[in-house]
Amino acid sequence: MLFVPSFCLLCFVHSSPFAYGQTDLVPAFFMFGDSTFDVENNNEPSTVIKANFPPYRRDYFNQKPTGRSSNGKLATDFIADGFNFSSPQPAYHSGGRNLLIGANFASAGSGHHDATTNLFNAIPITKQLLENYKEYKGRVIEIVGEENATSLFSRGIHLDLYQLGARRIGVKTSPPIGCLPAVITLFRLGNNECVETLNHDTIAFNRRLNFTSEQLKIMLTDLKLVVFDVYQTLYGLITRPGESSFTEIGHSCCGTSLVEISILCNASLSLGTCSNATEYVFWDAFHPSEVANKHIYS
Ligand SMILES: *[C@@H]1O[C@H](CO)[C@@H](O)[C@H](O)[C@H]1NC(C)=O
Ligand SMILES: *[C@@H]1O[C@H](CO)[C@@H](O)[C@H](O)[C@H]1NC(C)=O
Ligand SMILES: *[C@@H]1O[C@H](CO)[C@@H](O)[C@H](O)[C@H]1NC(C)=O
Ligand SMILES: *[C@@H]1O[C@H](CO)[C@@H](O)[C@H](O)[C@H]1NC(C)=O
Ligand SMILES: *[C@@H]1O[C@H](CO)[C@@H](O)[C@H](O)[C@H]1NC(C)=O
Repeated sequence: MLFVPSFCLLCFVHSSPFAYGQTDLVPAFFMFGDSTFDVENNNEPSTVIKANFPPYRRDYFNQKPTGRSSNGKLATDFIADGFNFSSPQPAYHSGGRNLLIGANFASAGSGHHDATTNLFNAIPITKQLLENYKEYKGRVIEIVGEENATSLFSRGIHLDLYQLGARRIGVKTSPPIGCLPAVITLFRLGNNECVETLNHDTIAFNRRLNFTSEQLKIMLTDLKLVVFDVYQTLYGLITRPGESSFTEIGHSCCGTSLVEISILCNASLSLGTCSNATEYVFWDAFHPSEVANKHIYS
């Protein structure tokens, strides 16, 4: 279970006086986490888990594979659209410009534990938060000055993050691990049903996450913290297909539909990638399709 995408953190910094943002409501948007949010931080040579080649993102208007682990938009892209940002937040490690609308620090392969992350040479969540985000703040201060930057990062959040300046935070629950196509394949029980014993572990994790979030809200009264329940949304799409337009549940679109992820999901190998992903909950064996991502955050 080492490589299962699981922990993610979204962070909205709210400070209306700041003049550089695109909306008064949310001037900047920060993403930390794994491949669910990674836009192109993993494109540098040293990292193992990548998605910057076809057929990734093939259903986006320009079909350019950036490093997003889907056939089109990620759930965070839909959020940025919803806040009327004119472009997605740049990947911190791609030397992106436009840093004043926020940044994306997520790195595919980063798990709960730094040890897992190191296995894939991904950027651990702790490093994203404690090093990259701090460096980023330094760069923003250089651009707009201490005073304006302080206004952007108006006090803090989530233990370290709270001290680093964030006030509005979204945390997503872990997806139903037992329903990922790769997991269904590996634990094959002769059908396409979810492996519920693994889901039970995930539910226990999500309960602890929710409990911690509730405690933080009590302790930090100025903190706006939202738990996005990705588990329930995805589980609903998977187990109650009649309520949505999805017909392909246990299989993913890419490749043989059983285990493909990252370099195994390779257009040049033409292993039978589906022609139309709109009916698939999963794009590759671990990651939701664009349409499922839209469901997750709508
Ligand atoms: C985004 O723009 C639309 C259309 O102008 C508007 O209706 C909506 O309220 C805006 N959303 C936010 C979060 O500002
Ligand atoms: C800080 O923000 C104010 C108001 O938007 C602006 O006039 C000023 O130029 C900014 N300072 C710097 C150093 O960018
Ligand atoms: C988190 O816990 C609160 C309070 O017990 C509950 O109302 C809420 O539905 C839970 N959210 C999730 C995502 O489990
Ligand atoms: C995809 O497969 C082709 C053909 O085997 C190979 O040349 C290419 O390097 C592969 N791409 C990746 C990203 O592994
Ligand atoms: C894919 O399927 C959906 C619904 O089945 C349909 O609306 C859409 O036009 C199809 N897209 C392509 C590119 O064939």
